[in-house]
Amino acid sequence: MAPFSQKIWIKTYGCQMNSRDSDTLKALLIQARYLIVENEKEANIALLNTCSVRDLAELKALGKAGRLLKRKGKEPNFRVGILGCMAGRRGAELLKVLPNLDWIVPPQALSRVPSLIYETLTQNKQTATVADVPQAFDFTCYEQKLSPKPVLFVPVQQGCGMNCSYCIVPKTRGHQQNRPFASIVAEIRQATQQGTCEVILLGQIVNAYIDKDAKKNFVDLLEAVQEIDGIERIRFMSPHPSFFNDALVACFEHLHKLCPALHLPIQSGSNRILKLMRRGYTHESVLKLIKALRAVEPKISISTDLIVGYPSETEEDFEQTVSLFEEIGFDMAYIFKYSPRPTTEAASAEEIIPEAVKEERNQRLLSLLNASSIAYNETFVGTKQEVLIEGLAPHGENKLFGRNRYNKKVIFNGSSALIGSFKEVFIEKATSSALEGRLVD
Ligand code: 5AD
Ligand code: SF4
Repeated sequence: MAPFSQKIWIKTYGCQMNSRDSDTLKALLIQARYLIVENEKEANIALLNTCSVRDLAELKALGKAGRLLKRKGKEPNFRVGILGCMAGRRGAELLKVLPNLDWIVPPQALSRVPSLIYETLTQNKQTATVADVPQAFDFTCYEQKLSPKPVLFVPVQQGCGMNCSYCIVPKTRGHQQNRPFASIVAEIRQATQQGTCEVILLGQIVNAYIDKDAKKNFVDLLEAVQEIDGIERIRFMSPHPSFFNDALVACFEHLHKLCPALHLPIQSGSNRILKLMRRGYTHESVLKLIKALRAVEPKISISTDLIVGYPSETEEDFEQTVSLFEEIGFDMAYIFKYSPRPTTEAASAEEIIPEAVKEERNQRLLSLLNASSIAYNETFVGTKQEVLIEGLAPHGENKLFGRNRYNKKVIFNGSSALIGSFKEVFIEKATSSALEGRLVD
């Protein structure tokens, strides 16, 4: 079959970085004259863009790949690739469990996917291609035009330069590489021509961004994006508490496009566990940072990631996380039960925490979260909020959704013609996860 009549289906697991990589890959494949299909049954090629951050994420992708390979058994022309973080972590070893794979491509080799597919099809290859990790990440792939989006995720880095004891990312995405400053600004300028008015700067440790050649750091980047006409809102994720400085805190005061919402992964409130995790900050220094942020933006939305049940976490350690939660009052949090990742430092720890204890700690934090998120969201009830309308809400006819500047999802009735515009919405109701209201005339 001729390569360019191939229909490709892509399924994405994991974080926003992976989801942006899949969007970029779709654009690269369309440019190379392949067809992208939304329905896997129509596809001749299935690509899974995978995540490795927790065991469950890998198990899901492995299960899906196994089912796709069964289909390959019946349809010999059907082909399957594993891309992304699991391909980066496991490489050729994946062939032991999934022997009939066609491609294994780590995240760093994203831009090579179209040519790898071409080679396999034109040579009618019957063995797997395992792509190498290139010396340097090809950041120009992110300059590829995507379908128009009101809110655009903009990668500013690849990989991670930290050494957190529990985390697989440096092994899946490699060491930290920074995207050239000019490439980021060029992409955002171009996106405004297609109607993008909000950007979310993405990186594993986004606030450690640096372009040494251009002598630009993360604050310089925020200031440059602030100057781009057509961009109305700026957000970033995820920063690391240790790379926050006064200049970055001050940005929340003097950059009016920078939204008052911060996702700051803290992981634990116990200084002992933070030290074992090699996070480089303390319970006290985080409280000080939040206090400084609230001094410039009193209503700033603060969300976080927390891990419960890290090896050796005692009841006392956990109480420190509970107390950090109560002291800060996160309006949103992702709470994860610790999952050992092979080859990480923490995976060899002996004092593992029983699943039942992890679950109980998880539930305790979830109930705190429920109360604090409702309390925060209720402060918007009875106010008018400026909402950037992003799309149709998944449930309910004629329902739209967007976000206010505080990153809260707002749901209301309206016509799809409004997608991509800013509108005022009067907030009538708050739940722990969203605000509901009506358009103001
Ligand atoms: N177990 C559980 N959660 C983890 N995370 C990263 N590694 C692990 C792990 N081994 C969480 C962290 C991180 C988020 C993306 O995933 O909280 O911030
Ligand atoms: Fe994203 Fe980390 Fe999962 Fe990779 S392992 S997809 S970087 S969350």
